[in-house]
Amino acid sequence: MEDPTLDKILNQYKCDSKKLLPILQAVQEKEKYLSEATMKYVAHKLDLPETQVFGVASFYSHFALTAKGKYIIRLCDGTACHVRKSDNVRNTIRETIGLTGNEQTSKDLLFTLEIVSCLGACGLAPVMVINEEVYGQITPEKAQELITEIKRKENANN
Ligand code: FES
Repeated sequence: MEDPTLDKILNQYKCDSKKLLPILQAVQEKEKYLSEATMKYVAHKLDLPETQVFGVASFYSHFALTAKGKYIIRLCDGTACHVRKSDNVRNTIRETIGLTGNEQTSKDLLFTLEIVSCLGACGLAPVMVINEEVYGQITPEKAQELITEIKRKENANN
């Protein structure tokens, strides 16, 4: 089945297999992640082996191979943040967005929680970033409040 969104991107690069990297970047920008079906489609259109496309996508860490939420929450667990109890914040975030087991993304695809090593703002520890917004000295209560507010806004828009 044809995919007009992917075709548009592929056509911008004239279906040139040498442009695989920028094509995958453009696709990810549009679709937020590279699904298996998407990579197969790109391989087919570029006349490349699927293994080559999967190989490139999994080699570069900036490619996401699983769906991500609309809001990416990055919580720092570097030393400064860890000693200031970022663990407690993480547990509260997981509970608030409903993550279980190894899940990183909420079922409603609203939130993805990523634990990172140092956000370079150790003086503000513990630090959390939601998309581009930085929150310092974050507490479990404050994190819960911010997430609840986002959920409220999103529900109001739907
Ligand atoms: S350790 Fe968290 S910002 Fe540096």
